Amino acid sequence: MVSDWNIANAALSHLCANKKMNFANAALSHLCANKKMNFANAALSHLCANKKMNIANAALSHLYANEKMNIANAAFYHPPQAGGRMPEKDFFMYVGKYPIIKKNELAKGIFDFVIHCPEIAQIATPGQFVHISAERFMLRRPISICEIDKKAGTLRLVLEVRGNGTKSISELQTTEHMDIIAPLGNGFTIDVKYENPYVIGGGIGTPPLLELCKNLDNPVAILGFRNKQSVILQNDFEKISNLYICTDEKSEYFHGNAIEQLNELCKNNIPDIIYTCGPAPMLDAAIKFADKHKIPIQVSLEERMACGIGACLVCACKIVKNGKEHYAHVCKDGPVITVDN
Ligand SMILES: Cc1cc2nc3c(=O)[nH]c(=O)nc-3n(C[C@H](O)[C@H](O)[C@H](O)COP(=O)(O)OP(=O)(O)OC[C@H]3O[C@@H](n4cnc5c(N)ncnc54)[C@H](O)[C@@H]3O)c2cc1C
Ligand code: FES
Repeated sequence: MVSDWNIANAALSHLCANKKMNFANAALSHLCANKKMNFANAALSHLCANKKMNIANAALSHLYANEKMNIANAAFYHPPQAGGRMPEKDFFMYVGKYPIIKKNELAKGIFDFVIHCPEIAQIATPGQFVHISAERFMLRRPISICEIDKKAGTLRLVLEVRGNGTKSISELQTTEHMDIIAPLGNGFTIDVKYENPYVIGGGIGTPPLLELCKNLDNPVAILGFRNKQSVILQNDFEKISNLYICTDEKSEYFHGNAIEQLNELCKNNIPDIIYTCGPAPMLDAAIKFADKHKIPIQVSLEERMACGIGACLVCACKIVKNGKEHYAHVCKDGPVITVDN
């Protein structure tokens, strides 16, 4: 068997090295079209496991560049129960176009979508994300899951227009479908032993904390925004948490950033766990706070992404664990990581 793989491998390598991409492509297409996903997956897994990433990448890039997205996607996202490409980890994800059933503009340039995707809603957890295809763009854009309604079979997504990818997604209408891969990544870990959880969000980092709060007992939520015009989700958080809003500019809310508000509240009431998502300086300050008070903290990271499933290294980030440096994939090992020491 091993030698068979070496041959298959060598064949693909040879095709790629000689830029005979059409043949490599045809081989993969043939496997996929004939629903021999186990073989296509196994071939890719083998390449990846043997660190022949340049070959796997070349094959996939070619598929993407030629808009054979369905083939690349099928190979990549075939659920592992049928021979999956990541046998070390039990995870399921779906790729598909799902109807948009609601759309609102929450604040200038910040859009709120609800999509109907029952099979995804069924397995999604707080802190996971969806990878959204944007028209005319090869790479998908990662957006956190803001709310999950398992009964209605829906996901809520809140996205801010930052560049052309998010602009294109924001133009989708309720008559249309959203092309997504989901649910992806590792979300927040909820442990009932913590009785005084604090949730700290900044700007567009606040949406994933909403579904988290729904799953916590009596959480305190501190949400920081630039100004009062950019405050979002206030009513939603008020229903399920003890909410404190703060703004950098003077307004009717607490004047200052989320960490200043945290320090203020903690004069009387120290949390026993912190969950956070937002801009990097806020995350750094929250980690320092947790370290000082010896409190566990879970941090949701943001990095530029390509594949979204741990295969391309675009989102690699250096982390220090038990004093040792190593690289983690934000998409697969995160986006939520637990920071210890
Ligand atoms: C796990 C995860 C969850 C996210 N959840 C949300 C969410 O719920 N709502 C939301 O509005 N945004 C979220 N983002 C950020 C969002 O993915 C980016 O804003 C988007 O990919 C930018 O694409 P673009 O084509 O519009 O902008 P580009 O033209 O690609 O870039 C515009 C600006 O955004 C910055 N940017 C690009 N990609 C990212 C990224 N991945 N993370 C941070 N900054 C980026 C660029 O540096 C640049 O300054 C999330 C990102 C990650 C990694
Ligand atoms: S985005 Fe490809 S490895 Fe994370």
